[in-house]
Amino acid sequence: MTDAYDPKVTPWAVKGQALPQDSPEAQLTFLLRFAILAPSTYNTQPWKFRAAPPAIHVFADPDRRMISGDADLRELFTSVGCALENLLVAAEHFGFAHQTVLFPNPEDQWHVAAVDVHPNGQRSPHRAHLFDCIPARHTNHRRYNGRPIPEDVLDALRRVVVEPEVRLQMTADPVLRRRADELLVEADAHQFADPTFRRELLQWVTQGAFGSAWLLGKIGRLAARTLHLSAHAVAVESEPLMNASVFGVIATEASTRAAQVVAGQVYERIHLQATYLGLSMQPVNQLLQVPHVKEAFIRSFNLSPLSPQLAFRLGYAEPEAEHTPRRPLEACLK
Ligand SMILES: Cc1cc2nc3c(=O)[nH]c(=O)nc-3n(C[C@H](O)[C@H](O)[C@H](O)COP(=O)(O)O)c2cc1C
Repeated sequence: MTDAYDPKVTPWAVKGQALPQDSPEAQLTFLLRFAILAPSTYNTQPWKFRAAPPAIHVFADPDRRMISGDADLRELFTSVGCALENLLVAAEHFGFAHQTVLFPNPEDQWHVAAVDVHPNGQRSPHRAHLFDCIPARHTNHRRYNGRPIPEDVLDALRRVVVEPEVRLQMTADPVLRRRADELLVEADAHQFADPTFRRELLQWVTQGAFGSAWLLGKIGRLAARTLHLSAHAVAVESEPLMNASVFGVIATEASTRAAQVVAGQVYERIHLQATYLGLSMQPVNQLLQVPHVKEAFIRSFNLSPLSPQLAFRLGYAEPEAEHTPRRPLEACLK
């Protein structure tokens, strides 16, 4: 009898397993078990894969997009970029060389990448030590303790960003963090007042095993804020940047689909590196989901002409107690 699938446990059982030796297809499928541990917007896991040796094909799944707040599908494609990065980190760890072509098929906008994988590869310096962080990584939604992050630790984070077209900006400035908090409050209030957004959020939360405690918590907090309940609790929760140490933004020169995917890769690499360095991290992407808030954000942080792709907070916190659920890999195969 096989053990029952536990979406918060089973996917991480891949940790410590050896590369299968039976067939190239089994090997590529094994690498995908690391890809699905990637973060994704609202844990939608909007990806599909096909292992066709020597290639792995990576697709975005439009059926799993968030309609409200992601009209330009930025979050869909950055999420797929996160999964692609995990795949490359795992491929390098198991000794494969890889070559990626983004959007290889002009007839299929959902075909995000074709990754050719061959034996006898070398690890790249910016990925070499990140493999063990794939199963260890969590998005940390807890209160952070505000302890400053030493400059050499921030430098170690900056070092994993090797794409010249991607900018990582980080600030500990309390005035700017306060401003980010103000914009977050505005974005949350705007989104929660929108019935389409509420419906979508609830739809993802109530997907049984795939819903998440933190999403439920968020709904509770938003309800409290909107209904003016529990003012003290709301005030604490509405300052996620003030209790973090650093506010960060990943921005790109272009605003293309490919730039969104690469920004996702960079985000995941930074998050894995943050895990390696003992830091907690959480995207705060409502800032980019509400058009007028996004405009104010770009102005306040002087980002123009860059395109902000992902905003996050960084700091020190108690670890998350459990993983956020994952669909079985089999449900993500095409
Ligand atoms: C593009 C993108 C946007 C995200 N936006 C947010 C956000 O605004 N707030 C948040 O708390 N988490 C956000 N997340 C984190 C996801 O909620 C998280 O990755 C998912 O629940 C899976 O949990 P895990 O990262 O701990 O594995 C985002 C993740 C991605 C990739």
